[in-house]
Amino acid sequence: MSWHRKDLLDIESLGADEIQTVLDTARAFKAVGERAIKKVPALRGKTVVNLFIEPSTRTRISFELAAHRLSADVINFTAEASSFKKGETLKDTARNLEALNADIIIIRHSSAGAPHFLARFLKACVVNAGDGAHEHPTQALLDTFTILEKKGRVAGLNVTILGDILYSRVARSNIWTLLKLGANVTLCGPATLVPREFEKMGCRVTYNVDEAIADADIINLLRIQHERQRTMMFPSLGEYSSLYGLNRARLAKTKPDVLLMHPGPINRGVEIDSETADGERSVILEQVTNGLAVRMAVLFLVSGGQGPQEIAAA
Ligand code: CP
Repeated sequence: MSWHRKDLLDIESLGADEIQTVLDTARAFKAVGERAIKKVPALRGKTVVNLFIEPSTRTRISFELAAHRLSADVINFTAEASSFKKGETLKDTARNLEALNADIIIIRHSSAGAPHFLARFLKACVVNAGDGAHEHPTQALLDTFTILEKKGRVAGLNVTILGDILYSRVARSNIWTLLKLGANVTLCGPATLVPREFEKMGCRVTYNVDEAIADADIINLLRIQHERQRTMMFPSLGEYSSLYGLNRARLAKTKPDVLLMHPGPINRGVEIDSETADGERSVILEQVTNGLAVRMAVLFLVSGGQGPQEIAAA
């Protein structure tokens, strides 16, 4: 057991041992999810707030279900129906939530650093559910959990992340996680979206998609993050799709046991065609399933849970 933090703000600051603790704890929670009674009392009496200032389907619902499975009281906060619309600040909003005895605040925000900002003054635990183009730690943890489940290891695997890397928080969190656990990470996409700067983190950067996918054990596809781009970063979606999109012809050039991953939401026909997204190499929906166990693990650990042994004994 190696977890002594009250917040999960990013992957960059975690050690490999802490990442491993989350993954081991998630494995124990996945086993709980296969029992007849899927609920445990670990967070009974605690209040969890989903403070989502940006849209979400998977992450918000998954955190909500995770908190329910842990027996917490859950409040869903949406910016549109709140006093944000009347000009209330993020700081005042969070302090009001804490005044109502929120124990854990899960925040998604379009500004990088918003969770770190809250963690500086809140006593409540803060969990980053995606901050701008910075990090999306639970996505990387559930991606890695899925790789481990399917491949039995992470160290030594070749993982290609293909698409819009520059604007992707999922890419950054995955890069940190995979490198800390010993995988080889290749980044590929248009040069405008995959700066060579990423080589300094320890990744291989290539603009040749055939080269990027040929020896990959995992291909993690990312959508174009239009909401964060101020200008069009390539000529057209059609051109992007023909140069970088994954389809039957490109899949035929990969290893026969390659895993195809995508954090969602998918833009079908752009970064991946429907046949490939729904095909037998795709583990996209298994990623979503695993997100529940990973988020249960994160909520459990930040609130002082003692790791997988405690869950197995429950
Ligand atoms: N992967 C992910 O973050 O999806 P949502 O935006 O739907 O939460």
